[in-house]
Amino acid sequence: MVALVTGGGGGIGAAICARLAANGHAVVVADLDPDAAERVAKEVGGTAVRADVADPAGNADMVARALDTYGSLDLLVLAAGIQSDVPPDPGVDLVRYRRALGVNLDGVVFGIDAALPALRSAGGQVVAVASLAALGPEQANPVYALTKAAVVGYVRALSTPLAARGVRINAVCPGFTDTPFLGITGRLLRKQKIPLLSPDDVAAAVEAVAAGDGTGEAWALVPGRPPARYEFPEVPAGLRADGTEVVLKPFLSAK
Ligand SMILES: NC(=O)c1ccc[n+]([C@@H]2O[C@H](COP(=O)([O-])OP(=O)(O)OC[C@H]3O[C@@H](n4cnc5c(N)ncnc54)[C@H](O)[C@@H]3O)[C@@H](O)[C@H]2O)c1
Repeated sequence: MVALVTGGGGGIGAAICARLAANGHAVVVADLDPDAAERVAKEVGGTAVRADVADPAGNADMVARALDTYGSLDLLVLAAGIQSDVPPDPGVDLVRYRRALGVNLDGVVFGIDAALPALRSAGGQVVAVASLAALGPEQANPVYALTKAAVVGYVRALSTPLAARGVRINAVCPGFTDTPFLGITGRLLRKQKIPLLSPDDVAAAVEAVAAGDGTGEAWALVPGRPPARYEFPEVPAGLRADGTEVVLKPFLSAK
């Protein structure tokens, strides 16, 4: 099996690369930082590629590298992501806002677009690393929450059309995870003895979700508990003339 991991050069992505490689995957490590990608690729016996996921060309390059090196692609893990660094007060800093959407959201959309033909041939799948911030009000970082909520919405909306092409797609939604991503917040959380996930906790959940058979799911990850499939409420879409409720459901068959 061949896996391509964006953001594979550090933090959660690197842990995912290590776990997948240990369990028999050939791994393509894609990262904006070419040295980090090389380092992880060397550790896991995989292949490194420098790619900016915010750029469609970077996504095309990383998929081409997977196909050139290993001939197929079974699993796309979208782990590249950044803090927005946009404070929760209007108005937004336009440059930071665009960059956050570019990496966290465009990176998911463009990554799936680039990989879909190969995933389709392999009967493959996508796992997107969203965040717990997608599922609740992350008041300290609304722009980050916006990107991650959009990722979960996209995964859910795309799952039925992708199922029709034989491709599964799911999201994992980790809480605070002990990586450089947390910056100063990490120190504050540790000081307050707030438990953190390890990058390998998230990697284990990605692997478990990939080994399952669901699609369109979002899995909440918090320290000390097993991954939990998040139950979204049904969406009421109005009342018929006879008083019965209309509920939004996927309208395409999964087969
Ligand atoms: N650490 C947390 O608390 C936490 C919690 C929930 C979700 N997440 C999400 O998990 C994912 C991984 O986060 P992390 O904690 O490992 O962060 P990290 O900063 O430790 O690692 C992120 C990696 O992504 C790479 N990257 C950044 N921008 C990129 C780009 N444009 N193209 C390609 N690679 C790029 C970085 O070089 C780095 O190697 C992110 O999507 C993040 O939003 C993190």
